[in-house]
Amino acid sequence: MTVIVTAGPTREYLDPVRFLSNPSTGKMGFAIAAEAARRGFSTTLVAGPVSLKTPNGVHRIDVVTAREMLAATRRAVESGRGRIVLIATAAVADWRPALCARRKLKKSEMPNTLRLVRNPDILKSLSRRPIVRVGFAAETSDNLDEALRKCREKRLSFVVANDVTEYGCGFGTDTNRVSFVFPDGRVVRFPLTTKRAVARRILGAVSRL
Ligand code: PMT
Repeated sequence: MTVIVTAGPTREYLDPVRFLSNPSTGKMGFAIAAEAARRGFSTTLVAGPVSLKTPNGVHRIDVVTAREMLAATRRAVESGRGRIVLIATAAVADWRPALCARRKLKKSEMPNTLRLVRNPDILKSLSRRPIVRVGFAAETSDNLDEALRKCREKRLSFVVANDVTEYGCGFGTDTNRVSFVFPDGRVVRFPLTTKRAVARRILGAVSRL
């Protein structure tokens, strides 16, 4: 089995020193990659800009933008051997500035409003090859309906929903409280635990699938 994990944020530049991004640190994705490698799976980690050490036995590809993350993940999927599992923990920027200046913009040149264009959806773009596709849903209320909508829309095996406003959950924490949401509407809730333990549960569910 080949396990491909996306992790961390993406950055979408407006000029060489300014970008749109989010607070993802990569901890959740790195924990999953570490656990997959520990189980002996061939593991590729496609990481946005984060400052974490590469887990043992993991092949890491560093990227910056959403489009780079899509290209690197696509290559990993296409060259993967055996059964392919894609686990998307990355907090991908959904939009990027329509224009990126080659040099730093002066304050007087900065527009008052930014024109944005949609970034590609990595999970949707890679819906053919991976046998098991697991998405994450970062919500700001315990909104499992939204997770189910994403699960069906992106044709995922299941979605790991986490409420990023809850204490000890989501961005930058060492712990998380997640629910697995399956396409048939089934929900399995877990208590607050370490991201490593969440990783073990996800890989257990993937193996059962
Ligand atoms: O990195 P940490 O600091 O440990 O934080 C972990 C986390 C909060 C980032 C993680 O647990 C999490 O919730 N990740 C998903 C965040 C997110 O962007 O969710 P979303 O609802 O916007 O996206 C849904 C799914 O589609 C995700 O699997 C995402 O990777 C994927 N996606 C989103 C946009 C896009 N253009 N392409 C995608 O593939």
